[in-house]
Amino acid sequence: MALTLKTIRCFLLVHLLMSTKASQQRRRHVAADGSIREYNPTTKKWVFIEPIEQTTTTDILAIEGRRFEYDFAQGEFHINQIPMYIIPPDSVRDSTNQKDGDTGRTVWDAAVVIAKYMEKNHHAMQGKRVLELGAGTGLAGLAAAALGALVDISDLGYCIPSIATNIQHTNLTQSNRTTGMATARTLDWTTATFDADHDTYDIVLGADIVWLEHLVGPLVSVMEQLLSINAGLKILLSHQTRSAATDEVFFGLLSKRFIIASIEKPEGYKDTRVNLFELTGKSVGGNISFAMLDNAMSGMTSEGDALSNRMFIQRLTNDASFRLRFSQALNTMMQRTGGTAVFWECATFTPATMNQPWECRVERAKALEGRATPDGMAFETHFKNTDHGTSIAFDNLGNDARLVSPRRKHNDTTFDTRYSHLAAFLDKAEDDELDSLWQTVGTEATTKMDAQESFWLSTDGRGVNWLHIRLDNEFGKYIKLYAK
Ligand SMILES: C[S@@+](CC[C@H](N)C(=O)[O-])C[C@H]1O[C@@H](n2cnc3c(N)ncnc32)[C@H](O)[C@@H]1O
Repeated sequence: MALTLKTIRCFLLVHLLMSTKASQQRRRHVAADGSIREYNPTTKKWVFIEPIEQTTTTDILAIEGRRFEYDFAQGEFHINQIPMYIIPPDSVRDSTNQKDGDTGRTVWDAAVVIAKYMEKNHHAMQGKRVLELGAGTGLAGLAAAALGALVDISDLGYCIPSIATNIQHTNLTQSNRTTGMATARTLDWTTATFDADHDTYDIVLGADIVWLEHLVGPLVSVMEQLLSINAGLKILLSHQTRSAATDEVFFGLLSKRFIIASIEKPEGYKDTRVNLFELTGKSVGGNISFAMLDNAMSGMTSEGDALSNRMFIQRLTNDASFRLRFSQALNTMMQRTGGTAVFWECATFTPATMNQPWECRVERAKALEGRATPDGMAFETHFKNTDHGTSIAFDNLGNDARLVSPRRKHNDTTFDTRYSHLAAFLDKAEDDELDSLWQTVGTEATTKMDAQESFWLSTDGRGVNWLHIRLDNEFGKYIKLYAK
């Protein structure tokens, strides 16, 4: 379920009230040394509560005790039948050297919940490149590695010896595994930079990493940087509200670049205080300068990076080398969505926007992925006098759009898979087919531009299973990537 900011607020508030009510029913005992114990009526045990040093005056909630009381040091907690060993760190840094209370010395409930969630969805972890942020002792990352992922478990330097020890004890080092392994990585959100060639993670994990407002900006920036390296990135967040104000800032910032979906907690781990979210990137695109896209695009315009709408249409119509390079760049952009099919939409073309920078968006189209063989008969009546391998334009049935569609090049229909949708075509079509498609789009767009008409250029593809680029007279008849 994708969530709006308003829904997230309500969602967290309800959970917060439920968990506060539950915690009020718990008895607490403060010892002479300041340590706090809490009675858990379910397990009938007194549990030690982590005292936490607050470095901010915002309304941080009391850090409550754990619900999941495993003896981690004895390997009592299992993932994929592998005991996860979390050895208590040798020493605690003195408070002058601590950073935000050094909260990474123990396992928090959120880590247990996310670990069990991954176990339930273990197929999604196999062979994936995973980064855990703010890992503390590293339980979530260890679980991912035990499920077959290649994991970098990261935190501030003070946690690294403990993470390394836990990787070693849980037998997840590179040297003793062929699949599923973990390494410790020092990563401070406030200074982190990433390398687009190496930091190509598929999944990012975060358990209980949102509590201090001053860390929210750096943390979200880390997530955004990782998304810009891999547009198909998935972030699994196991979240416990520590401060309503911090949550507000965090989810507000996140929602600019991410779609936030609530996911179901695994059976036996439905703790009301912990919530699971899956974050995926919003559509890729925006103000696409060719230099931003790829080296393949550099040198595209002699005028610099920004290509205007008018220039875009002119080049599509008149410049064969542009059309080919445009196909390559769009293909790269599509691959960065992490999917095999996409929706594609350009920003509005009107007489008033012709000199504005051209831009487009693509978004992964799961609905088109793994489709059955394309419908070779869909536009057959239009193709009667068309050469094989070339594209033509025709009016749609409702007479409110021009459609541009390629006629199959080979008689052998086994080649038809390339005509399923735009991503397949860019990937598999031959150069002359690509050239014909974009030139026809360019010619149609030129006609509309010269007639001072507004139009919307996109491809959806859920209706008819044969590639057709749309030049609509109205906005948003199909996809609305620009309305998001
Ligand atoms: C509440 S603990 C959660 C630990 C672990 N994920 C768990 O659930 O058991 C928050 C973690 O964020 C880490 N952290 C705090 N500031 C950080 C920063 N600037 N960069 C990276 N990690 C940070 C802390 O060291 C700590 O391990």
